[in-house]
Amino acid sequence: MAKHYDVIVIGAGAAGLMCAIEAGKRGRRVLVLDHANKVGKKILLSGGGRCNFTNLYAEPANYLSENRHFCKSALSRYTQWDFQALVAAYGIAYEERKHGQLFCQESAKDIVRMLLVESERAGVRIQLRCEISAVAQVEEAFELQTSLGRYVAASLVVASGGLSFPKMGASGFGYRLARQFGLPVTETRPALVPFTLSGAEHNRCAELGGVSLEAEVSCNGQSFREALLFTHRGLSGPAILQISSYWREGDEVLIDLVPQVDLAAELLEQKRQRPRQALKTVLAEHLPTRFVQAVTGDWFENRPLADCADKTLEEVARRFHQWVLKPGGSEGYRTAEVTLGGVSTEALSSKTMMAKSVPGLYFVGEVVDVTGQLGGFNFQWAWASGWCAGQYV
Ligand code: FDA
Repeated sequence: MAKHYDVIVIGAGAAGLMCAIEAGKRGRRVLVLDHANKVGKKILLSGGGRCNFTNLYAEPANYLSENRHFCKSALSRYTQWDFQALVAAYGIAYEERKHGQLFCQESAKDIVRMLLVESERAGVRIQLRCEISAVAQVEEAFELQTSLGRYVAASLVVASGGLSFPKMGASGFGYRLARQFGLPVTETRPALVPFTLSGAEHNRCAELGGVSLEAEVSCNGQSFREALLFTHRGLSGPAILQISSYWREGDEVLIDLVPQVDLAAELLEQKRQRPRQALKTVLAEHLPTRFVQAVTGDWFENRPLADCADKTLEEVARRFHQWVLKPGGSEGYRTAEVTLGGVSTEALSSKTMMAKSVPGLYFVGEVVDVTGQLGGFNFQWAWASGWCAGQYV
């Protein structure tokens, strides 16, 4: 015997729970199914366990998509201030970090607890450890075959996320389901992901593992000035994660390792003031010593400033301001924070998130071709798109 609901949501993550809560508040009988053993696993993991749950400056320009306009409707109807107000109403302590990023002060668990209380108040039923083997449209409803039996609902919401972090339960389920119903899916690739390097650059970075500095990283017309971190595999840190979303296999990345200073002017000035000072010593006043050490002899010869021609100093400064690097690849979905691309926005209503050609079928959150930059934007999209669908399912 099939169990009947008004709405079935696949995925008990940020987008799925928000949608379920809103639908439940409207009196809909809602069931959330998830194959994981816990709800909101990515929420718990996010922001180093403190969940960067939204961003005060979230706006459409912070999102990538084949249709940059698609996210506007949802983001304007459920805003960062709406979610901030919800968090505040639950008395959850949070703080603003740089660039408007809001983080829990205690633990990401607070956000999951809040969503669970909201779900319970809205009468939402959540069923974990549920494997979904088939979905079919039968007349006006959707019928799901699962490891826990057969379920039927008039509205089906796909909130199963993207491909990143497979160990947290990520799967290509949502994309397969979209294709099954004839909906286009744009090319997917890992985003907000560290770069890997090969050859000499790899060896240099491996040696520098753990060193970090502020850098301005540019690629394909985008630039980010944030921390850059050397790792044993290549490069990471916010600056690299941000630019990775704009980088394609084979592209070069331009890195300014000293964006805070005009290094040529500084070296020429120091040559006048401290001519006996070693070039390496002056560089180490603006860059991590280990980095300067690693490129000594390769990027510059270490001599007293007085022994360096002005032209040479200008050339040295250029090396540090314009480090051109060709990443060998990225660390892939294993460590990517998000998946770029997904269910094509062309196939969905930006107001309801429903598939235009399949009444009753909705897609929300990361599974959709809308990807935020680093800084709480991805959760804001999950809340906003989930909230919107919740008004119509
Ligand atoms: P999400 O992936 O959260 O949920 C999907 C759910 O569907 C999961 O519970 C999964 O188990 C379930 N599911 C998948 N396949 C299924 C199947 N076949 N059957 C049943 N259930 C299935 N963003 C941000 O804004 N701020 C931050 O601080 C961070 N930090 C961060 C850290 C790390 C390490 C990662 C990996 C990601 C982030 N993110 C982030 C990104 C953010 O976590 C992500 O964008 C949202 O969780 C997306 O929410 P969704 O609900 O769409 O998917």
